[in-house]
Amino acid sequence: MSAAQPDLRQRHRTALDVLRRFRQEHLLAFWERLDDGQRGQLLDQIEALPLQLIERLDRERGAPSGSAPQPLTTVLRDSADSPHWESLGLKLVAAGEVCCFTVAGGQGTRLGYDGPKGLFPATPCTGKPLFQLFAESILGWRRRTGASIPWFVMTSPLNHAATESFFREHSWFGLGAESVRLFMQGTIPSLDDGGKMLLSAPGEIAVNPDGHGGALRALAQSGALEEMTRRGVRHISYFQVDNPLARVIDPVFLGMHAGHPGSSAEMSSKAVAKRNVAERVGVFALIDGRTAVVEYSDLSAEQSNAMDLQGHLLFGAGSIAIHAIAVDFAKKLTAEADSFALPFHRAYKKVPFIDERGVLVEPNQPNAWKLEAFIFDALPLTGRSLVVEVRREDEFAPIKNASGDDSPQSSGAAQSAQFANWLEAAGVVIPRQCDGTPDCQIEISPLRALCAADLRGKVSGLAVERGGRVTL
Ligand code: UD1
Repeated sequence: MSAAQPDLRQRHRTALDVLRRFRQEHLLAFWERLDDGQRGQLLDQIEALPLQLIERLDRERGAPSGSAPQPLTTVLRDSADSPHWESLGLKLVAAGEVCCFTVAGGQGTRLGYDGPKGLFPATPCTGKPLFQLFAESILGWRRRTGASIPWFVMTSPLNHAATESFFREHSWFGLGAESVRLFMQGTIPSLDDGGKMLLSAPGEIAVNPDGHGGALRALAQSGALEEMTRRGVRHISYFQVDNPLARVIDPVFLGMHAGHPGSSAEMSSKAVAKRNVAERVGVFALIDGRTAVVEYSDLSAEQSNAMDLQGHLLFGAGSIAIHAIAVDFAKKLTAEADSFALPFHRAYKKVPFIDERGVLVEPNQPNAWKLEAFIFDALPLTGRSLVVEVRREDEFAPIKNASGDDSPQSSGAAQSAQFANWLEAAGVVIPRQCDGTPDCQIEISPLRALCAADLRGKVSGLAVERGGRVTL
């Protein structure tokens, strides 16, 4: 008998007792078939289950989704007040009070790319991976402000190892390993119609990442929030890994978040005007008088199409998933990190499972609820929350689909168009097609310029040929 066995037996007894209380004891049905290694792993998984949370989720299943959304008023980023907010934001950054935070738990599956999305080649000329692009931007902002600007990156069990190797192989892109912190988000089991968890193998529970809303709990449990406080960081600049145009640091937005009368400086957001009714972005709305995002799949056709008297979409402020979040706000929400969770959204999906005979079933119809929390569900928990409207061409060109809208091709064109505008503002002649789009491809490293003004007086004599490629 190995020394580990009595310990396993004891853990098994305790786990069985707990699971019985939550009517989930079937998770141990195949115990006798497992070797000690598998038993240990299954017990690790069971002991980490947020059982009370899962029971609550199941109880809440089918509960009414709440009051009807009402239109919300945004404020413009670019206005006569921008210089004021910019100087306030710059002060915060220079004082070391701002860090960057990227949610990167997703895979490139929708792109047909088998790996972490952050490794996906994103820029128009050199095909720079998303992580490298953000790293260079952070480095650029460090140089400009003299601040340390730590970078937190949330991975998931699906891609943590691959993400870490990538950063290591690239020597942390010159940022210094001590100022880049990767941490994993949690997982959540899928539930069948009876509220029972599924097994994906006789010794393994079927789980999936708990959504970017899991970021708050993961930030707390990984010690990242404590680390932020230790470093003097008070505000988190939050963005998704899939948007190469995301401004990793935006002093104007940070200043508005921290100082605008419409903001309680807890959590603020950026929006763009929806491209059309069908665009798959969440929209900002008021629900019970509080700022919220309604996900595109949750908005009825009638609500999506509704217009005001000027012909603007009533729910036309699309979320680009960029937020400023106060560290204290994140701490307040997660004070009880083990039991805290934002509401879970449910999707009925096909989830392979082990049936009671121990046979793997690959369902051809949806059979289970996959659960995911969304970070924007923290918005209604703020006092006053600001939604700042920005120009799409400056800040939003995500890579989500293999082709068409929001694809590598459309994002590359948007990046090129932005750089063309920057060069033009610096006096360079840009060849354009009849519709105004640049007839060339341009890429400018954030190490060279973080905004148009950085190029002024530095690119005189640059000639851009029709159909040409320029990399700076
Ligand atoms: C998302 C938003 C949508 C917004 C749009 C803007 C949701 C549910 N919807 O849509 O409101 O308008 O972006 O581009 O988020 N991620 C994790 N862990 C997870 C799941 C996702 O880190 O468990 C990360 C992904 O790596 C990605 C981001 O969250 O960076 C967005 O996830 P995705 O599922 O692709 O959301 P979208 O449907 O594109």
